[in-house]
Amino acid sequence: MILVTGAAGFIGANFVLDWLAQSDEPVINLDKLTYAGNLQSLSSLDGDARHVFVHGDIGDRALVDRLLAEHRPRAVVNFAAESHVDRSIHGPEDFIQTNVVGTFHLLESVRAHWGTLEGEARAAFRFLHVSTDEVYGTLKPTDPPFTENHPYEPNSPYSASKAASDHLVRAYHHTYGLPVLTTNCSNNYGPYHFPEKLIPLMIVNALAGKPLPVYGDGMQVRDWLFVKDHCSAIRRVLEAGTPGETYNVGGWNEKPNIEIVNTVCALLDEMSPRADGQGYATQITYVKDRPGHDRRYAIDATKIHRELGWKPAETFETGIRKTVRWYLDNQAWVQQVQSGEYRQWVDKQYGAKA
Ligand code: NAD
Ligand code: DAU
Repeated sequence: MILVTGAAGFIGANFVLDWLAQSDEPVINLDKLTYAGNLQSLSSLDGDARHVFVHGDIGDRALVDRLLAEHRPRAVVNFAAESHVDRSIHGPEDFIQTNVVGTFHLLESVRAHWGTLEGEARAAFRFLHVSTDEVYGTLKPTDPPFTENHPYEPNSPYSASKAASDHLVRAYHHTYGLPVLTTNCSNNYGPYHFPEKLIPLMIVNALAGKPLPVYGDGMQVRDWLFVKDHCSAIRRVLEAGTPGETYNVGGWNEKPNIEIVNTVCALLDEMSPRADGQGYATQITYVKDRPGHDRRYAIDATKIHRELGWKPAETFETGIRKTVRWYLDNQAWVQQVQSGEYRQWVDKQYGAKA
């Protein structure tokens, strides 16, 4: 079996759903259920013995030690993190606590566990750390995309905390020989994306008749990847990646934010037109820019393609259409997230600990 942390979040939930759709290898899902963790995203696995949910913190050494000793997973995939840049600007402390200190404690537990393994189990064990392109900083319009050799130049408290965790993971390989793999991925989008991030926020606000807040001039560029393609890249790296190596993952799909917002509006105009006949783009509102806003990210995904044969299956056109359709078909999920209903469920289920 494998231990997956943060699998009640956006990418982790997609990863577990995809994993169990393709394999019967069980998953232990360790998640703290912060505001971003939502077990409703995994409700299709209710009663499925292949998914074991454990409520807890990656920084809880006693808990993680026990889970590793009891279940003896062949791999740990670490998604758990505070992930939203704007929140890191308003309050960086949780980012340091989970992304830096939490990852450190997790690494210590994993190192101790790996030390108890022998022979084939020791050789096959992997720790896969899921990271971001934001650790590389920002690009000028004509700069080539980020390769794995690009210097780390994080600019937000979020990206600095992820950079710190990447360095710890790297150090545990070089110092202790821990068989680690790191993936640095560009912006994901798709089902179960929390509506604080650009694409789901635009869909949800558009349908609610609210303003669509575009930061600054809207010409910041991101490299978008459909979440299921990120999940397939992680599966591939886990399967065939070389310990100690990092792999950049991206969609070869750079677009300015305003183009993304206009695309979402056009798809909504087609699939769920406004009653008054106006286009959703009339709701676009330019607002104050994010402090320290990185202007451009772009990933050079040559290495993972050349060495591991991975490439994305979706184009942006197919992926964004599926995403908008998913939000239209799953408004109950959105309403539940927005109403805080899932938090009430967490409180009821887990009491004050959650
Ligand atoms: P998310 O915020 O949707 O989910 C994070 C999950 O981690 C939540 O379920 C939360 O409850 C859990 N968590 C937080 N702190 C925890 C702790 N201390 N212990 C256990 N669980 C904890 O994030 P996401 O968008 O799914 O991102 C997952 C990972 O992928 C993160 O490491 C992020 O940095 C990375 N990443 C995200 C993107 C993206 O576009 N979303 C792109 C590249 C990399
Ligand atoms: O690049 C990978 C990263 O992508 C991940 O590591 C992060 O976890 C993930 O949150 C994401 O970070 P971004 O800051 O790029 O994503 P976000 O959706 O917050 O913003 C995307 C772009 O849209 C960014 O340039 C800011 C802009 N934006 C965002 C919001 C929420 C707006 O213009 N308006 C908004 O309301």
